Amino acid sequence: MKIIVLGSGYVGLVTGVCFADKGHKVYSLDINAEKVKKINSGKSPIFEPGLEELLKKNLENGNFKASLSNDFYFKNISTDISFICVPTPSREDGSIDLKFIEKAAEDLAKYVKKIKDYHVVTVKSTVVPSTTDKTVLSILKKSGKKIGEDFGLCMNPEFLREGSAVGDFLHPDKIVLGSYDDRSASILEKVYESWSKNIPRIKTNLRTAEMIKYAQNSFLATKISFINEIANMCRKMGIDAKQVSYAVGLDNRINPQFLNFGVGFGGSCFPKDVKALIAASEKSGFEPKLLKSVIHVNEKQPLEALKMAENIEGKTVSILGLAFKPNTDDIREAPSIKLIQELKKHNVTIQAYDPQATENMKTLFPDINYTESPLDALKNSDICFVMTEWEEIKNLKPEDFLNSMRNPVIIDGRRAFNPEAKKKAGIDYKAIGYGTYEED
Ligand code: UDX
Repeated sequence: MKIIVLGSGYVGLVTGVCFADKGHKVYSLDINAEKVKKINSGKSPIFEPGLEELLKKNLENGNFKASLSNDFYFKNISTDISFICVPTPSREDGSIDLKFIEKAAEDLAKYVKKIKDYHVVTVKSTVVPSTTDKTVLSILKKSGKKIGEDFGLCMNPEFLREGSAVGDFLHPDKIVLGSYDDRSASILEKVYESWSKNIPRIKTNLRTAEMIKYAQNSFLATKISFINEIANMCRKMGIDAKQVSYAVGLDNRINPQFLNFGVGFGGSCFPKDVKALIAASEKSGFEPKLLKSVIHVNEKQPLEALKMAENIEGKTVSILGLAFKPNTDDIREAPSIKLIQELKKHNVTIQAYDPQATENMKTLFPDINYTESPLDALKNSDICFVMTEWEEIKNLKPEDFLNSMRNPVIIDGRRAFNPEAKKKAGIDYKAIGYGTYEED
């Protein structure tokens, strides 16, 4: 099939390259000329395992080509379907900002107006319920073309995780096919024809497809804030939450995934999506108390780590891990940001290390020290905060801390280490969700 993908950010580039790798002819459009040039030279603008190889392969076989939006629209190339993968950032109040969605819909309205063949417009960006059937459809109708006859409309949410996006796209748990009508749905379904038949296809309407995305992300965020709250209680009560989350996760109604307590969830999705759903829900007249608490607990969680640090004034502090999670260079809403902001209110020297995210963090905090290795970050420091559970950090030995630090104090924000092993080695080890008690 001939497919347009609007936006070559995280979702757009992974979507476009994977569709091309499945044999579709993909036109990837972006308004950023630099990015288009870089992509066409076979370089991925984002750090994502496996993506650059697939990009190179499909540039070479001609299935994938990136171009500036206007250049493409000028050519009047007829295609079967387009996927809107542009950003949906948050406004100050947490509500969703649809400016890029509206622009994309306007461009596609002009495109649909010009081409002769039937074309399906599909929203893949994360948009609050009613965005596709209200905002996008009303803009497309300005083309003067008829929905159902000249063009179709679909909503096809993605569930990609950073660091495993290519695998998540090619082997999803489900494929959600939200559509305006059956004709639209059949075109969208055809795009995914070569995906395994064992993957459930959820056929539904536009608004339900939008809500499935939000409900899923909000549930995962709730699961994390729940286990973080339990972890905070455990530490106060002298209990190790690790065993608690393990045992609870064995119940197949609960499942162990996303029960890893720590300094909270970050990234470009969970915080933004939960806040956008809260705002949309309040706008619809329902107050989502639970989701508000999920955000409240999460915003406080990095401070739980700071609370464990005693008399930090004048001290040298190491931070191991800056990215919001391992295997990405992404620092958006990373808990490490909150920690650094709080630390900077004190007279401390910060030495930070991350395998991939340092350059991004320098844009936010140019005035703290960044090191080339975890050992350099530990040099002569008094406290070490572990904020991202990179393998490299998890593999650090007790002697690495004992030989490098002035005072071997670890505050483990991601349960990267085994508490007993560290304590036996003579390290003053503290952690989120780690409590002990002496039998009377
Ligand atoms: C998430 C969703 O998983 C994905 O389906 C959606 O499409 C986009 O948002 P992503 O943001 O890449 O993906 O990260 P994810 O792996 O879900 O982790 C999100 C945050 O939760 C990270 O900060 C991670 O450290 C934290 N997390 C995750 C926990 O604190 N505990 C856990 O058990 C799991």
